[in-house]
Amino acid sequence: MQHYAVWGNPIAQSKSPLIHRLFATQTQQTMEYVAKLGDLEDFEQQLQTFFAEGAQGCNITAPFKERAYALAEEHSERAKLAEACNTLKKLSNGKLYADNTDGIGLVTDLQRLGWIQPQQRILILGAGGATKGVLLPLLEAQQQIVLANRTLEKAQKLADKFKPYGTIEAVAMDAIPAQTYDLVINATSAGLSGHTAAVDGSILSLARACYDMQYAKGGDTPFIAYCKSLGLNNVSDGFGMLVAQAAHSFHLWRGVMPDFVAIYEHLKKDMA
Ligand code: ATR
Repeated sequence: MQHYAVWGNPIAQSKSPLIHRLFATQTQQTMEYVAKLGDLEDFEQQLQTFFAEGAQGCNITAPFKERAYALAEEHSERAKLAEACNTLKKLSNGKLYADNTDGIGLVTDLQRLGWIQPQQRILILGAGGATKGVLLPLLEAQQQIVLANRTLEKAQKLADKFKPYGTIEAVAMDAIPAQTYDLVINATSAGLSGHTAAVDGSILSLARACYDMQYAKGGDTPFIAYCKSLGLNNVSDGFGMLVAQAAHSFHLWRGVMPDFVAIYEHLKKDMA
């Protein structure tokens, strides 16, 4: 039996075990995937023990993505730029390889929605870890990015870092250039405390589509609710991104790409 897990703290709420078990059944892979509560002090030791005992790979969620990245000996380019990983794989040479499938998961979900074509103008709200994790795949998909953050310096720092990879500019949240964005992506953590980042509603109203990287069980996230209140219909939460990033992790470990849309639709029905 090959062993996999997701590590986080808290972890009880994680949908990853269910998603990966469904992928395993769908692709006829024999594997075990469980949730593991990481210890805030001893996480590194726990992870070393997990792999020493024969595990093949794992997902990493909050608050350990940076610490897991630091522990790995080899890193994908997208993990390097994110300075964080959501996926670890034990290589055949015994080394730990870190990848970050969050950004490609987002791009894959935008493809499901039909919302991504080259040279679109995308407005991203927020410039924290969630944003850093998705910028490279978005720029590789030739998106032109306006990065808006409450704290302008943080957005500026990210824009400077990612400029070599494509078109990206930083603006303050209260000085977003008024224009029609093909897509607005909420990557702030404001929704976690039940809020929406204070963003000019008239700019959102013009948007062709709005995507929230967060999701809420059985309802709308605060950002999606706000977009709907402005009359927007093309809205999506980040549940598809969650399933798609898992599919890319699964592919890295098992060499098989699951049909993530089928699993997404199956799970979405249960969440309604
Ligand atoms: P994460 O890993 O979820 O991205 P983070 O690195 O702490 O978390 O970043 C949180 C992001 O949400 C930041 O861009 C933060 O803005 P600041 O850099 O100005 O702090 C943004 N954010 C959180 N709460 C917000 C709020 N109420 N309004 C606007 N932006 C908010």
